[in-house]
Amino acid sequence: MVNRPSFSKILISDTRGDEIAAYLRARRPDLICRVRAADTLTAPDRVWADALIGFTVPVGLEGSSIRWVHSTGAGVDALLRPHRWPVGVTLTRTTGELGARIAEYCLAHALALAQRIHMFQRDQTKRRWAPVEPATLRGSTAVIVGAGSVGSAIAARFGALGCVTLGISRHGRPRSPFDRVHAVEDLAAVVPAARWVILAAPLTRDTRGLVGAKVLSRCRAAFLINVARGGLLDTAALLVALKTGTLAGAALDVFEEEPLPADSPLWRAPGVLVTPHIAGVTHVAEAGEAFLEALAHLEAGEPVPLAVDPARGY
Ligand code: GLV
Repeated sequence: MVNRPSFSKILISDTRGDEIAAYLRARRPDLICRVRAADTLTAPDRVWADALIGFTVPVGLEGSSIRWVHSTGAGVDALLRPHRWPVGVTLTRTTGELGARIAEYCLAHALALAQRIHMFQRDQTKRRWAPVEPATLRGSTAVIVGAGSVGSAIAARFGALGCVTLGISRHGRPRSPFDRVHAVEDLAAVVPAARWVILAAPLTRDTRGLVGAKVLSRCRAAFLINVARGGLLDTAALLVALKTGTLAGAALDVFEEEPLPADSPLWRAPGVLVTPHIAGVTHVAEAGEAFLEALAHLEAGEPVPLAVDPARGY
């Protein structure tokens, strides 16, 4: 007889913990959900739970009874960072419709720039009539760092508007819907063609600081959009690139430290638009659905499509 794992005691540590618990209870009344904030969590909670739902791990997993962690987000770097991931603990994540939402964020910024919306807004405040023909996205090149579900959703939408889409992945294997995919080693060689450089890769040991002086100095008046993690981008190199003009501007939704500290030079850097990590918010139903889908696979003793390889980091 196959020994199938069972998970019934679910510890939820997320800002929307109560809503996630209600979602799960309505669909699986057999699950016992315990909602705890990082500061209300007690030592017995970690030896009570079979599974944990959250975006960061509020407890040490070693020595706990937790055998499965489900991330309410797509990026699991905050879950993995403080831990040596214990052998035998499954890690899964939520992707939901994140790619579609993030892609709209990227398109909005690219279109606003191409249509010179900010410039016309400034002109309007001065009652200034100064026609400049908008650019089109058609024919421009988007370099998208990360060819996973989010990067692919971005490529599909930029491609639909006639952009050439170049993906950057670990191995550079061709992948739909990208026009071409390059290996990460070729990033600096590829960016000179880019009007849009879009960061949509997970933060791992290999991608930390990936977009630094070497890459940014090769850009040619590109517009950078970061919807991944702040750690991918070297802030000092970004500020230099904006000053020297290798970058024409940037839309940044993610930062090394969040909330972005009040004294960060990014708040006032010319050409930088700061948004507070809103490009790809996970909805409660998405986190709940992804958890239930993974649970069904785990209970059936099947491989879980939403599983993350903790060693790889995505
Ligand atoms: C958001 O940042 C996520 O990783 O889902």
